[in-house]
Amino acid sequence: MAVKLGIDIGGSGIKAAKVDLETGEVVSERHRIETPDRPTPDAVAGVCRELVEFHEWTGPVGIGFPGVVQNGVIRTAANLDKSWIDVDADALFTRVCKCEVSMVNDADAAGLAEVKFGAGADVAGTVILLTLGTGIGSAVFTDGKLVANTEFGHMEMDGKIAEDRASSRIKDEKDLSFKKWGGEVEDVLREVEKLFWPELFILGGGISKNFDEFSEYLDKVRTPVVPAQMLNRAGIVGAALACGAD
Ligand code: BGC
Repeated sequence: MAVKLGIDIGGSGIKAAKVDLETGEVVSERHRIETPDRPTPDAVAGVCRELVEFHEWTGPVGIGFPGVVQNGVIRTAANLDKSWIDVDADALFTRVCKCEVSMVNDADAAGLAEVKFGAGADVAGTVILLTLGTGIGSAVFTDGKLVANTEFGHMEMDGKIAEDRASSRIKDEKDLSFKKWGGEVEDVLREVEKLFWPELFILGGGISKNFDEFSEYLDKVRTPVVPAQMLNRAGIVGAALACGAD
C-alpha cells in the first residue's frame, strides 16, 4: 500500500493524516493543531513537526500551503504572514520535520485530489477548481495535468480582487445571503470562463457542502458547475499526492 503523510496548512488549523495514494482514502486519524497566532515559517514548521511525531512518521510528507510555491520556495502568503516570502520551505520543513517534504499550493493540492478521485475524475479537456474559503484558490487542469500556481483569487474585478468579493470569509464578514454572495461567485466564474472556456468548474472549500443553497444563483455561467466531492479531505489527500508515487 502506497501510504504518504499529507498536511494541510490553513489560517485556523493545521491538519495531518496518512493517505492511501491508490484509493485516496484517509487511513489514520485526522489530527489538527491550531495555527499559531503569528504563523511565521519557524512556528508553522514546529507545528508540522509535532504532527509528524504524532503520526510516528519518517517517510515523505506532502504539505499544502496557502500561497504560491515555486520549486519549494514560497512566493506569496496573502492570508498568512509576510515573513514567508522567498523562504525555501522545502528545505526548512525537511530540516525541522526530519522527513523529505514537498510543498505545494493548497488549491493545487485540492485539485489534484478532485481530479484523481473526485468530481474531476476522467473529465477530458480543461477543468478548473476554485476553493472558496478565507481566500479563493484555483487549480487548472488540462486532460488531468496540473498547470501549477494559478491565482484567480487575485484577479482584479471592478477595482477589487476576486477573493475580497466572493470568498466565504467575505460572506461571513459581511453577513451576505446565499443569493447576494452567490451573485459574486457567479461574476468570478463568468470572468474566468471568458478567458479559459473550461469543460467543468468544481467549487471546493468548506462552503461547497452548501452548494444546493447557492447553485441557483450561478445560472448565467455557461460551463457546468459542480461541488467538490472530497470535502474536507481534499487538501490532505492532494498534499499527500504531491509527494509523488514511490
Ligand atoms: C492564495 C492562494 C491560495 C488561496 C486559498 C489565496 O489568497 O493567494 O495561493 O490557494 O488563498 O488558500
